[in-house]
Amino acid sequence: MQKILDLISDELKKAFKEAGYGEEYGKAAVSNRPDLCDFQCNGAMAAAKAFKKAPIQIANEIVEILKNDPAFESIEAVMPGFINIKAGGKFLADHMTAMKNSEKFGLEKPEKVKTIIIDYGGANVAKPLHVGHLRPAVIGESVKRICKFAGHNVIGDAHLGDWGLQMGEVIEELRLRQPDLPYFDPDFKGEFPKEAPFSISDLEEIYPAASARMKEDADFAVKCHEATVKYQNKERGYAELGAHIISVSKEDLKRNYDNLDVHFELWKGESDADPYVKDMVDAMVKSGLAYESQGALVVDIREEGDKKEYPPCIIRKSDGAAIYETTDLATLVQREQDYKPDMVVYVVDKRQELHFIQVFRTAKKAGIVPADTDLRFIGNGTVNGKDNKPFKTRDGGTLRLEALIKMVDDAVYDRIMESREESPEEAEKTAKIVGLAALKYGDLSNQATKDYIFDTDRFTSFEGNTGPYILYTIVRIKSILNKYRETYGTTGEFSKINVPSGVSEKNLMLKISGFHDMVEMAFRDTAPHVVCRFVYELADAFNGFYHDTKILTEENKEKREGWIALLELTKELLECGIDLLGFSAPERM
Ligand code: ARG
Repeated sequence: MQKILDLISDELKKAFKEAGYGEEYGKAAVSNRPDLCDFQCNGAMAAAKAFKKAPIQIANEIVEILKNDPAFESIEAVMPGFINIKAGGKFLADHMTAMKNSEKFGLEKPEKVKTIIIDYGGANVAKPLHVGHLRPAVIGESVKRICKFAGHNVIGDAHLGDWGLQMGEVIEELRLRQPDLPYFDPDFKGEFPKEAPFSISDLEEIYPAASARMKEDADFAVKCHEATVKYQNKERGYAELGAHIISVSKEDLKRNYDNLDVHFELWKGESDADPYVKDMVDAMVKSGLAYESQGALVVDIREEGDKKEYPPCIIRKSDGAAIYETTDLATLVQREQDYKPDMVVYVVDKRQELHFIQVFRTAKKAGIVPADTDLRFIGNGTVNGKDNKPFKTRDGGTLRLEALIKMVDDAVYDRIMESREESPEEAEKTAKIVGLAALKYGDLSNQATKDYIFDTDRFTSFEGNTGPYILYTIVRIKSILNKYRETYGTTGEFSKINVPSGVSEKNLMLKISGFHDMVEMAFRDTAPHVVCRFVYELADAFNGFYHDTKILTEENKEKREGWIALLELTKELLECGIDLLGFSAPERM
C-alpha cells in the first residue's frame, strides 16, 4: 500500500498540476512544527522562483483547490508561502485499518530485490569476545534484519579472524606444553586424532598465556611467527591443529552470539579466502595495477579530489606474508563468485576506516567487484566508561563480553526483585530478556559512528528512552488485551480502526503512519537508530493515549473494538520494531 506521505503528495500533485505549475512541486513532508500542523508542503516556494510569482499567491491557489479535500482536516497557506496540512480523521483511520490488515503493515516490495552481504561481529578464533565486539555484533545483526524486512536477500557472514598471529601463538604454546603430540612430528604419516587436544577452557587459558610469554620471550615470539607461517602454508600438522582451534572456538562463539540473539548465515573465515589470493594477486601484477615498492607489492589508491593523502594498499609484504588487506580483497573475490552481491556492508570499529577505503578502492580498480557494487563501511564508535574512555575493567584490563552482559542482567534482576513479587527463577528469566533489550537499545539508540558511555543505571531504567521502557509498554498493551478478553470474552481480533476522537489518539495514529518511511530511511542509511527513534516515539504516543482513554470501561462497542484494534496494531508495530533491533519482549515484567 501507499505510504502516507505519498497519499498526501498525490493530492498536492493534482492541485499543483491543475493550477498549471507541474506535479513536481507537490511534495509533502512531516511537519517540523507539530504544534501547527501534521504535514507541510514547501512546493509553492520552489514554484515561485520558477514562475516569478509571490510564493503566498501560489500557496493560496493550491489551498483553494484542496480546501474541501476529505483527506484533510484543514489546509492553509501561511507566510511566506508554506502550505500547512492537518490530516483528516477518517483518512488516518482508513490508513490504520489498511495497515492492520496488510502483510508487513503494507510495506511495499522493493523495485529491485538486492543481494546483500553483511560482514559483522568481528570475532577472532582462540580469543574470547570482549566489550569491543559488542557493537559490531549488535549493529550488524540489526542492519541485517532491517535489510531483510525491507525485502532483500541478506546473508550475514561472521568472517572469523583465523589467519593471524594468534594461531601461531596457540600452536607454539601447545608445542611447549605437549611436544609429543603427533602434529609436531614432521615425519608423522599416520592419521591425526579426530578429537582436538584441548577443550574450550584449555584454549581460554592457552591464548593469554601464550600472549604473555610472547612479550617476555623474544625467542618464543620468533617461533610464534614461524608457526603462523607454517599454518598459513598448510603444513600438515599445523593445518590440522589450526582446524581444531577453529572448530572448538567456533562452537563457543556460537554460544556467545546466541546469548546475544545474534546469528550468522555464514561462518566463513579469513582462511577461506586464501585459495583466491594467488590468482588475484597475479592478475593485479599482470594488469600493472600492483607494483613493487620497497620490496612490497602495492596498489595506488589515490583519486582525484582526495582531501587527504591515502597511502597505497599493500597486497603483499616484503617477507611474502599475507596481510589483512589481501584477505579482505580475496574474500570479495569469493563473495563475487558465490553470490554476486549488489551490496556488501562491513560493521567494524571506525578506527579501521583507512583499511576499508584501501580495500574498497582496490577492489573497484582491480575489477574484483563491478563499479556499481555498493561497498559500505559502517564504522562503529567505541563503548566508553564513565570517564569517556574505552571501557576497561577496574584493574585496567579488557572486559569480557560475557561479564558485560552479566552486569546488565544483574542490574535488571535487582530492579525486578525490588518492585515485583516474582519468584527468583522467574525474575532471572525475565531479567535475561529485559537485560538484552537494555544492552542492545542502549547501544543502537546512538548513531553507530558515535562513541557512547555505557551507563548500566540509565540503560536498565524502566523510564525514559530505554529498552526496558519499550518492553514495558508492550507488556502493558498485552495486559490490557488480556483483560479485554477476560471481560468481553472475545479474542479481540477486530480489524476496523475508528476515526480518532481525541488529540492523543490522533497523535498515536500519526506516529503509526510514519512506519513505512521509517523502514525506508533505516534501510537507505543502514541505520538502526532510526528504528529506535520510531519505537520510542510510538511507545510514548501510546502511553499518552492510554493515559487519556478509558478503554475497558467504554460502553460504545464499536468505539471499544476500534481501540482494541488500534492497540493491537500498536503492539504489533512495537514488536516488529524491536525485532528489527534484535530483541523481544517478555510476557510480564
Ligand atoms: N577480526 C577483525 C578484527 O578483530 C575484524 C574483522 C572485520 N571484518 C572484515 N571483513 N575485515 O579487527
